[in-house]
Amino acid sequence: MNDAAPLCRFEDIPDGGAIGVRVDTSTGGFDLVVLRQGERIFAYHNECPHAGRNLDFAPGRFLVRDGRITCAVHGATFAVDSGACLGGPCRNGLVAMPLAVIDGEVRLR
Ligand code: FES
Repeated sequence: MNDAAPLCRFEDIPDGGAIGVRVDTSTGGFDLVVLRQGERIFAYHNECPHAGRNLDFAPGRFLVRDGRITCAVHGATFAVDSGACLGGPCRNGLVAMPLAVIDGEVRLR
């Protein structure tokens, strides 16, 4: 387990929805989308494999419905629970980041 700051609290993530999280690093950092389905959470780089754009339609706001997240740029659709490409112009899935929840805090593993 690392000592990095928590990404957010578990209850910050709406059930069936997603939030955007910025991870600051010494090399400039990166953005994640953190999604929740009930008691399960998932994180992926906020970068669409189609054309490398952010997935959100406004900062931190994502199109999530029925277990799928849709890229707001050209409509590629990915499975929330695996990041797999399900439809649209993507050929590859989202890049996952492993998470842990400790005392209600969501952290990268
Ligand atoms: S950049 Fe996401 S579908 Fe094109």
